Amino acid sequence: MKKIQFGTSDLQVASVILGCMRMNGAENPREIIETAYENGIDFFDHADIYGGGECETIFGKALKGTSIKREDIIIQTKCGIRKGMFDFSKEHIVGSVENSLKRLDVEYVDALLLHRPDTLVEPEEVAAAFDQLEAQGKVKYFGVSNQKPMQIDLLKKTVKQPLIVNQLQFGIKHTGMIDQGIHVNMTDEPSTDRDGSLLDYSRLNQMTIQAWSPYQYGFFEGVFIGNEKFSELNSVLDRIAANHNCTATGLATAWILRHPANMQVIAGSMNKERIKEIAKASEIVLNREEWYEIYCAAGNILP
Ligand SMILES: NC(=O)c1ccc[n+]([C@@H]2O[C@H](COP(=O)([O-])OP(=O)(O)OC[C@H]3O[C@@H](n4cnc5c(N)ncnc54)[C@H](OP(=O)(O)O)[C@@H]3O)[C@@H](O)[C@H]2O)c1
Repeated sequence: MKKIQFGTSDLQVASVILGCMRMNGAENPREIIETAYENGIDFFDHADIYGGGECETIFGKALKGTSIKREDIIIQTKCGIRKGMFDFSKEHIVGSVENSLKRLDVEYVDALLLHRPDTLVEPEEVAAAFDQLEAQGKVKYFGVSNQKPMQIDLLKKTVKQPLIVNQLQFGIKHTGMIDQGIHVNMTDEPSTDRDGSLLDYSRLNQMTIQAWSPYQYGFFEGVFIGNEKFSELNSVLDRIAANHNCTATGLATAWILRHPANMQVIAGSMNKERIKEIAKASEIVLNREEWYEIYCAAGNILP
């Protein structure tokens, strides 16, 4: 398993994370956790809202049925999304973490991320929540998800803990943060700056980008791998995958990890064989020709 440095921390962490958003659909969650762990994926991503809390509960119970020690894995969760609103108030953040800890049946989470921007955010509230959770030993590291540089800077002005993660949708069929950097100073569609140079900001500030829904296109519209809508992309993926003795899914993982921004891939598969393929592929290093060929086969153009 390829390891990366976790933001500005001293931790070396797995470059592949198991996303637990779909764990309420898993046939045997204990075996899924064990398969991930045995293949070097010792980092698990949650959120208070996954399955309405059920995913954390299922994980907590399943983990107890394994011989894996709590301190040997990284458990991350997220909060801030509520029905019909976003909520970064101190009361909500603290309450949400306390409920996650109960469901996960653990004393602490390694990392807490603010899930989606709350436009009513008052950074002082976030700071007070983080201070309390850190002082109580309930959270070790902090970060955000789906936030742009100026929003992060606003938080940083008041929050004293380093914000070391930004979880963002990224994969072969979702490349906005790369397109914009390639099409600088053009007037075409990909040059549109939607996220404020997120990629450059993350690299400059050593924030780890965690790529969510890496094998999906659109907003959970489906998987692009093996999908006839993307036949050109799939034929390129199959050819290059054969050269590396991996599957197209493995290759799609290696494509993200090849970027020097040192990202992590959050795979949401609840299939043991697929988890093994993905873990194994973290070691594959694509060359520049392969990387750009895949980028272009996905329908992207170079200026
Ligand atoms: N921060 C955020 O806003 C945010 C949003 C969404 C997700 N996330 C995180 O990202 C994680 C991953 O999200 P995701 O599950 O949507 O991502 P994903 O890994 O791209 O998709 C996994 C889903 O695709 C299916 N699939 C079918 N064919 C596949 C193939 N060839 N390769 C890989 N998967 C295939 C999997 O089924 P099988 O189980 O049968 O393999 C599974 O249902 C979540 O668990 C969550 O932790 C974060």
